[in-house]
Amino acid sequence: MTQKIGKLYAIGVGPGDSSLMTLRSVELLKTIDVIAIPEKNKGQQDSFAWSIVRGAIDDSQMEGDRSFLWFPMSKDHNITVPAWKEGAATIARHLRAGQNVAFITEGDPSVFSTWAYLQEDLLEHFTDLDIEIVPGVTSLTAVPAATQVPLCDGEERFCVVPATYGVKMLPELVAAFDTILLLKSGRMVPELIRVLEPLGLLECATYVSYATDPRQRIFTDLRDVPADFCYFATVQLSIRGRKGVLRHGGQA
Ligand SMILES: C[S@@+](CC[C@H](N)C(=O)[O-])C[C@H]1O[C@@H](n2cnc3c(N)ncnc32)[C@H](O)[C@@H]1O
Repeated sequence: MTQKIGKLYAIGVGPGDSSLMTLRSVELLKTIDVIAIPEKNKGQQDSFAWSIVRGAIDDSQMEGDRSFLWFPMSKDHNITVPAWKEGAATIARHLRAGQNVAFITEGDPSVFSTWAYLQEDLLEHFTDLDIEIVPGVTSLTAVPAATQVPLCDGEERFCVVPATYGVKMLPELVAAFDTILLLKSGRMVPELIRVLEPLGLLECATYVSYATDPRQRIFTDLRDVPADFCYFATVQLSIRGRKGVLRHGGQA
């Protein structure tokens, strides 16, 4: 008899505050056979996603095995692709053994998550893989919750770009969007100041790191952001107010 392949879950565990994990994610993580956990440094078990989970569920309440997968932070595909493939192969081994696996990821799996690569790879391993994606609270909404500035209303538009790739596009984006969320802004703050100042938009930018986490920091002036690099940092650029259609009874 052939072994039934296990089911694969991608679980978004939210932006930092463990109490923002969904009931569905907590329920699944308590009973799943294997929890697949991304780690930043090989063998270090250093994972923001895992610390979020541990804040909501006691270790003793999780029955499954832990499988740490190393995903190095690099733009070099010669480094990242083999690591993603190895991670996918590890998950595939568990699935072939009939185990259900939950891959956890910070925020939501559909927003700049290694999940995208794992999914692509695993669909090459299996033709009939049963996948469930459990959405999580994403930084895209945790950051405006911290700034208390809405992303958009009425006819307004917002967009999301990684600062690491998108700074050069800012002059075009500010002409087309009311809010721009610049993810991965940590190292990019000096460059953002350089581009936003001549556009007269520096005062529209708010920096938020570790939104919802006890380490959360908010800077309404980018020039005050400390030089030490924080990876979990986003800049919300709000140039709203041009078309407040809801406030003005629908008149553009
Ligand atoms: C690899 S992406 C992961 C995004 C995540 N999957 C999500 O749904 O938010 C990492 C980037 O997301 C943003 N980010 C994630 N969590 C954040 C938080 N708690 N506060 C501020 N920015 C955050 C930062 O821009 C960070 O560099």
